[in-house]
Amino acid sequence: MRRRGALAALAAVAAAVAMAAPAQAAGRCGDHPWCDRSKPADVRAGLLLAQMTLDEKIGLMGGDDNGLGDASKSSGAVDGIPRLGVPPLYVNDGPSGIRQGIGETARPATALPSGLALGASFDPQLAARYARVIAAEARRRGHDVVLGPMVNLIRDPRAGRNFESFGEDPQLLGDMGVAWIRALQKAGVIADVKHYLANSQETDRFTVDEIIDERTLREIYLPHFEAAVRRGRVGTVMTAYNKVNGDYMGASRPLVRDTLMDAFGFDGFVLSDFFANGDTVGSALAGQSLALPVPAYFAPNLVRDAVDSGRVPAATIDDLVRRYLRVLFRFGVFDRAAFPRNARIPVKRHGRVAREVEARSIVLLRNRRALLPLRPRRLGSVAVIGKPAAEYQRANMMSSGGVRPFYSVTVLRGIRRAARGRFAVRYDDGSDLERAARVARRADVAIVAGAPSVSSGEFEDRPCLGLDCPAAAPHQDRLIRAIAGANSRTVVVLQSPGPVTMPWLRRVPAVVEAWWPGEEGGNAVADVLFGRVNPSGRLPVTYPRSLADVPARTPQQFPGVNGRALYSEGVLVGYRWYDRRGIRPLFPFGFGLSYTSFHYRDLAVRARPAGGGRVRVSLRVANVGPRKGAEVVQVYLGLPRPAPGVVQPPKALKRFKRVVIPSGRSRDLSFVLNDRDFSYWDSDTHHWRVAPGCYRLMVGSSSRDIRLRTMLARRGAGCARP
Ligand code: BGC
Repeated sequence: MRRRGALAALAAVAAAVAMAAPAQAAGRCGDHPWCDRSKPADVRAGLLLAQMTLDEKIGLMGGDDNGLGDASKSSGAVDGIPRLGVPPLYVNDGPSGIRQGIGETARPATALPSGLALGASFDPQLAARYARVIAAEARRRGHDVVLGPMVNLIRDPRAGRNFESFGEDPQLLGDMGVAWIRALQKAGVIADVKHYLANSQETDRFTVDEIIDERTLREIYLPHFEAAVRRGRVGTVMTAYNKVNGDYMGASRPLVRDTLMDAFGFDGFVLSDFFANGDTVGSALAGQSLALPVPAYFAPNLVRDAVDSGRVPAATIDDLVRRYLRVLFRFGVFDRAAFPRNARIPVKRHGRVAREVEARSIVLLRNRRALLPLRPRRLGSVAVIGKPAAEYQRANMMSSGGVRPFYSVTVLRGIRRAARGRFAVRYDDGSDLERAARVARRADVAIVAGAPSVSSGEFEDRPCLGLDCPAAAPHQDRLIRAIAGANSRTVVVLQSPGPVTMPWLRRVPAVVEAWWPGEEGGNAVADVLFGRVNPSGRLPVTYPRSLADVPARTPQQFPGVNGRALYSEGVLVGYRWYDRRGIRPLFPFGFGLSYTSFHYRDLAVRARPAGGGRVRVSLRVANVGPRKGAEVVQVYLGLPRPAPGVVQPPKALKRFKRVVIPSGRSRDLSFVLNDRDFSYWDSDTHHWRVAPGCYRLMVGSSSRDIRLRTMLARRGAGCARP
């Protein structure tokens, strides 16, 4: 009691001191007028800018250190200006955890599941938890900016960096990205949404010119960046290496200055991808503030010449630097001490988040005769087959999306732990098919792990979608067939950066996709296999039957010919393409099974009779199966064709929600759609437009499992209900 009283007195004194202190007391700013925290960020930036020399301004336009290979540094750094109290800024990778250094000398951090795994959760709240782990570790390692999230839409299943992205749909990318950004920034770390724009392949990554029409840009490649700006209020945007329609993204005035800034209202700053191409005048005029990790085309003499010769107005430099300073003020970088470089990371606590994210991301693709979940008490022995079961599956450490984990739990280890001595676990690496089949035959259940044999990452698109490339020597496919032939209770566990083909699918009763699962992967896989977790992950990307079916089928489209990639599939990317062309995918977008089942009913739509404004969609979902589970309810719209030449996909995702429902219970859900949801981009008027006509509203459990539907008239059209 006495102790509590003393503490209270101390706190009161501290509060009084804090109140009496001048606004500019703490932090690294000093007592300049711009150090007054009570002033808005923009005002403070203006006061500071007025005191800066041209050379000082130009000095902030280029990075001062390439820290990529060094485990003790940040990926990039911009020096401060001590005379004016401008602090240095440290930027660091990456989107699935902190990557400092390259290869096995890198500094360990919590390795979260890949971005695509997170996308498969269809759960923005989980994206926020994921980002909070990254923010906490950034703050303990001295990084002010994290180079993520990566929201490039998956255009082709072969693209090397698909694993970093949240999927193939702009709405999913936007909702996940916004939650991620808000959480990271709320924790005081500045996000950097990347790569603006259409960084869809690794072949010719530094130079490829992507030819994309205006409507496709607006409807498919831009909306999630727009969401990051408008709803996420992201602090920084990274421009991509590639060109779009002839301009390097780091010098694209139409897409950066006119679209990102003027149309979307982005008031943060734009930084370049590392060593990306750009040019002094073009990049400055386009709106790029910072070239990383070295100044390159923003070298002081080059920028000064451009200003002196009048090719870049001094006012443009002011705008670029003001943006930079404003972000630093907005996030309090001037007003706090530098983040520590070596603070202790709560490894266990963060590992628990990694496990939970992964458990919610695993997609149950097939489960014949309810083979899963396995019941440990009824098992005598389990055979675990295949090298990928005993190896940690992840991005290589040359990729900025790679993380050197604090520790890693392989699938084999996860299963052994789950066994806790209750059943025997026998492992065979699968190199000899007959021997592996013998091991499988003797076990009650065979679990085969598969993973693409080729790597996928920066510079590396996958040459094929099989587990083995070249497809001529498909060892893993043969192994899976052999095991399925030897044991009718065979489960395939895939750990892949994205879609793979499954020529053996019909012979195997159960398949799960675990993605690149992060450091806790094996535990999460065991959680799902043994039923501690009821799977609820959904495919954020279509799994095609073969490469012949994908939207970018010709070399002109992917990866391009003579350095040009034609986005001639237009708005028909991902499931939009498969739906329009009537192609049956191996597994559709939004698909994933559960150990329980759900029933949808009572769809109701409330719209104003005039057909403008918001529409409320409501329904009831019941869990009619044996156990508690989570359902991802998906709302799609099919827009009418506004004019003969305007192709519309049969459906586009507009809203989704992951809901947990106990067995025998139901939940009422409602979604609000707005005018933008009903709009297409009219390239003649350069505006969003709602066409008069009938809109098909569909609510389902996947893009190919629509449970409820109705028709909706807009803009004065009449239409019959189905
Ligand atoms: C990648 C970026 C990354 C940067 C720094 C580039 O190669 O494209 O995503 O943030 O390197 O590592």
